[in-house]
Amino acid sequence: MPDVQVLTRDRDEVRMNSHKPIYILGIESSCDETSCAVIDSSFNVYSNIVASQVEIHSRYGGVVPEIASRNHILKIYPIVEEALTKAAIHLSDIDAIAVTNGPGLMGSLLVGLVFACGISYASKKNIIGVNHLEGHLSAIRLSKDILKPPFIGMVVSGGHTNIYEVANWGSYRQIGTTLDDAAGEAFDKVARVLNLGYPGGPEIERCARLGDEDSIPFPIVMPDRVDISFSGLKTFVIDFIKKNPIKSETDRNNLAASFQKAVARTLFEKAEIASKMTGMKRILFSGGVAFNNYIREYFEKRSREEGIEVFFPEKRFCTDNAAMIAASAVRRLENNSFDDPLTLSANPSAEL
Ligand code: KG4
Ligand code: ZN
Repeated sequence: MPDVQVLTRDRDEVRMNSHKPIYILGIESSCDETSCAVIDSSFNVYSNIVASQVEIHSRYGGVVPEIASRNHILKIYPIVEEALTKAAIHLSDIDAIAVTNGPGLMGSLLVGLVFACGISYASKKNIIGVNHLEGHLSAIRLSKDILKPPFIGMVVSGGHTNIYEVANWGSYRQIGTTLDDAAGEAFDKVARVLNLGYPGGPEIERCARLGDEDSIPFPIVMPDRVDISFSGLKTFVIDFIKKNPIKSETDRNNLAASFQKAVARTLFEKAEIASKMTGMKRILFSGGVAFNNYIREYFEKRSREEGIEVFFPEKRFCTDNAAMIAASAVRRLENNSFDDPLTLSANPSAEL
């Protein structure tokens, strides 16, 4: 990485050619995880604390926005303190603060953003607003930049299923997206139909391990397009259960396994179409759904057969976390491109 100049507002302090690491404090609160991380600009992770609210929201079968933001308020201060303590780095040694400012739930985003802007203003530290989707893509940088642009980047999470042409870090062109449900959302909804808990992804993966993935031939919706539809697959599952009520654990496991395979196949076929469209042979699969071992293995096997290379962030950086947000900010640090803590705002529907 080139030498980084860090300009501290007001003090115009420039740190060039320094051998001391450049430390970034990342803050993420866009949905139901409150997270804070300390990394350096060479992508060493010193701490990455994630406080999940999953137990609270599982009672309601999904994230309740008002409850999420109230819990972020309770957690944000202790989580930031814990991240600094675990990293053994004092706030005064932090060079820049990276915070998610969209997309996400407005109330949730605001808690992290206002907290980060407050620290930035009070301590005269640089602040960088980060797009959460770029965060998911940048998670791979935490594996010491094993994958460098250009490549195809897939963000497959609870809120998004997007395919990007990544020409460079900071240069993203969306070439495909879901026309309805995100992949993670489809996992969550199908899990509900199967009377499994929230979030649905891990529950379906658990049941699927015991089932036969070829027992029910679910269709691939819109097979010739790079865009995706999961709502059709979800409807197919619901109709199938109406006609063939679940009578045993085996029925449920078979359904989970067949559905999971259909999602993996759908996503891989979209990746293949994107590869043909762009001529790019390297694919990054990121986001919460990349936590799924079956999908990781499916992609690895199919990509070997098709002459494509697939990359996944480490599993701990796939679901929402602040280390990926801090990693996104490195490109901005390299260009001395900072935001103003008095005007940086949240955008719940921000695009990349
Ligand atoms: O990236 P993420 O933590 O949050 C968003 O940005 O949405 O993704 C959460 C989503 C949830 O829908 C969850 O069901 C899904 O990721 N997920 C999984 C697995 N673990 C989490 N989906 C499939 N298999 C998993 N093991
Ligand atoms: Zn996410």
